[in-house]
Amino acid sequence: MRFDEPRLCPVDLGTGLLGAGDGHYRKTFADLKGLYADEQAFSAILAERADEVAYEVTSYTPGGAVSDLIVGVTRMEPGKVGNEYFLTRGHIHARANRPEVYYGQKGHGLMQLESPDGEVRILEVGPQAICYVPPFWIHRSINVGDEDLVMMFTYPADSGQDYGIIERSGGMKVRIVDDGNGGWAQQPNPDYVPRSAATIEKLLHDAGLAA
Ligand SMILES: [Fe+2]
Repeated sequence: MRFDEPRLCPVDLGTGLLGAGDGHYRKTFADLKGLYADEQAFSAILAERADEVAYEVTSYTPGGAVSDLIVGVTRMEPGKVGNEYFLTRGHIHARANRPEVYYGQKGHGLMQLESPDGEVRILEVGPQAICYVPPFWIHRSINVGDEDLVMMFTYPADSGQDYGIIERSGGMKVRIVDDGNGGWAQQPNPDYVPRSAATIEKLLHDAGLAA
C-alpha cells in the first residue's frame, strides 16, 4: 500500500478511553511508588487500592517515524496522597526536541512543565483548552478536580519517553498540593537537585543542537 489508511478513533468521555486504537496501558497505584512526598499516606492508599488503576492511556500509533503522530487519550482518577494531588509519573521525550499537544476533554487538570534549567510553568487544562508542550520541557499531568481528568494528546511517533530525568533530580522542582480552600498551590520540593550545565548541554547536543 502506498499511502497510510486514514483512521477515525472515537473518544468515550464516560470511560475516558479511545476507541479503534492499538495501545492501552494502565498504571496502578502500586506502580507509583516513590512519586509522592507523604509516604505514610501513600502506604495507606496502597493497603486498599494497590491494584486499582490510577491512570491509563489508550492510543493509536500509525507508524514509528517522526512524520507519524501518535494520538491518544489519557484518563486519570481524582484524589490526593496526603495533601498532594494525583499525578502522572512525568517525563521528557527521549528525543528531547519533540513537542506534544494536549487537549482537555473532561475534568480539571494541570500540566506541570519544567525546563531542563529549572523554569517551572503550571498550565490549567480544562475542557476545550489546548496545551502546547514545547520541545525540551519535562511534563506531567495532575488531576486537581473531583472527577476523572480526560485529555487527548498527540506527539511525533519517534519521541519516546525518559522518566529517569525526574528521578535523577529528586523529583520535579515543585509539588502541587491542596491549598486548603478547594484549590491548588505550588510547594517547593526540598529533595530537588538542579541539573548541571553539562547535563543540559548533553540534552541539547543529543538533539543535534549546540547550546
Ligand atoms: Fe510526552
